[in-house]
Amino acid sequence: MKIHAITLLAAATLSLSAGAQVTPQFLSERHAMLRVENDKKLLLLPIEEKQENAHIRVVKDNQLITTLNCRLAIDKVDYYVPYATSEGELFDIAFAANPRATGSIKGFTCWSKMHYADAFTETVADAYRPAYHHTPAYGWMNDPNGMYYKDGRWHLCFQWNPYASYWENLSWGHSSSADLIHWTPEPTAITPDALGTIFSGSAVVDKTNSAGFGKDAIIALYTSARERQTQSLAYSTDGGQTFQKYSGNPILTADIPDFRDPKVFWNDDIQRWNLILASGQEMWIYSSSNLKDWRYESAFGRAYGNHGGVWECPDLMKMKVAGSNEEKWMLICNINPGGPFGGSATQYFVGSFDGHEFKCESAPEVTKWMDYGKDHYATVTFDNAPDGRHVAIAWMSNWQYANQLPTLQYRSANSIARDLGLYSYNGETYCSVKPAKEMDAARGKQIDNPSARCEIVVTLKGDAQITLRNTKGERVTLTYDEAEGTFDMDRRRSGNVAFSDAFPCVTTAPTNGQLRQLRIFVDNSSIEAFDADGKMAMTNLVFPTEPYNRIQIKGKAKAKIYQISR
Ligand code: FRU
Repeated sequence: MKIHAITLLAAATLSLSAGAQVTPQFLSERHAMLRVENDKKLLLLPIEEKQENAHIRVVKDNQLITTLNCRLAIDKVDYYVPYATSEGELFDIAFAANPRATGSIKGFTCWSKMHYADAFTETVADAYRPAYHHTPAYGWMNDPNGMYYKDGRWHLCFQWNPYASYWENLSWGHSSSADLIHWTPEPTAITPDALGTIFSGSAVVDKTNSAGFGKDAIIALYTSARERQTQSLAYSTDGGQTFQKYSGNPILTADIPDFRDPKVFWNDDIQRWNLILASGQEMWIYSSSNLKDWRYESAFGRAYGNHGGVWECPDLMKMKVAGSNEEKWMLICNINPGGPFGGSATQYFVGSFDGHEFKCESAPEVTKWMDYGKDHYATVTFDNAPDGRHVAIAWMSNWQYANQLPTLQYRSANSIARDLGLYSYNGETYCSVKPAKEMDAARGKQIDNPSARCEIVVTLKGDAQITLRNTKGERVTLTYDEAEGTFDMDRRRSGNVAFSDAFPCVTTAPTNGQLRQLRIFVDNSSIEAFDADGKMAMTNLVFPTEPYNRIQIKGKAKAKIYQISR
């Protein structure tokens, strides 16, 4: 397995064309080879997003090491990505097409700009990069994967393309944090192999050595994606620094095209592991004593909830219903498309689970959404969180436009972490969503006007309209209508909205009772609004061309604004 040990330096403006150039051999109008020179750490690949993928096979000692698909620059460089080289590697590069009329690939920009370097310096200053949300240092990110808590650190793996800022070459990137706010990049956890690219999955801490890889080994279960999707296992005996793949992979197969995203958890009630994964329009449940051999238990979902798209990324957990001693199970089902405002969203079901079968307690036609924004997807929880907490993180994007977001060297961020629970309202049980308690510690000094990173706490006594605006006339309006029992966020004039027709929108949530206090988290390119009591959450991206620096409040409401400290 290739581990990318890439040194990231603090942002500085170095000329990226400094460093040794490459000397390719040209073999045809679409084909070149490049021998990696000795003693070079990184090969910086110039990317131009509007081009088609070039297919790169990395060969060493006549063996295929890895393949990557990468839109190498033909006319101009949008940004660079680093490839960690090892001595003697040969890059065999085939372009899908040659858009130049002259027929020669010799003149492609990539050859003059590709170069070696000792460290990768982030040179593209991006005003939209979040200040306190997790983002990859570079490259594309989608779903959170393999999340676990161990020895005081929260580990967050994620769907990652290390070789460009669009969906390709899926690996598991890895970051960790002591406080769910400051994230440290870790070595890449799992990289593609002959069984496929690495799709979503989960990880658990094996406290009893049930799998035989060692006490407290981290066991990751993920989807290997090729023509079909199968489930594979990898384990780490050094706390997650390096993962080894199990030689018996794949451990779970099925004759179903969409069969993916295994989420594993220890079920105390049956003293066995349970696994839930998405299988077509259903969630399939399995059990195991050793994390390797899985017994099929049952399927849930036919005719329940929303089926407007593909069911993906499940989770299943037992939680207390607030104000009672009753415990119920909640099944998370991310769905794309089919969300309440188009595209991706997170629905959930509440009911009972005996380790074998999940039974939803609501009528089949009832659909419950965890978050009523447009940028909340692939939401799953951490394994082994302290104090029995259920801490979730969502991917803050939507498949309708995720690949078009107006950032370059990185694309996509995660939501802030949230504490999940259950509460009853009007005869139904709902999921409560509150900012993780770690966010309290991020509150810095009180300020008069909003800034690019702040928390706005609004105390409400009835209808209210809160507008965040900047000097360019860009604005986001949040409206609470007490009689209707609704809360809206209007981002139609929030700044740069033109990159996708599906982006400008108003999102609306039921408030399930009165709103007394709102907590609004603003970062450089997102707004997350929560009912402080947890009855409503709304997560939306925004791309203002200048931070919102004014607040206007109409109605019975008062706001306090806190800087988010770093
Ligand atoms: C959800 C998803 C998963 C899949 C992954 C691939 O966003 O489609 O079902 O495993 O992304 O990147």
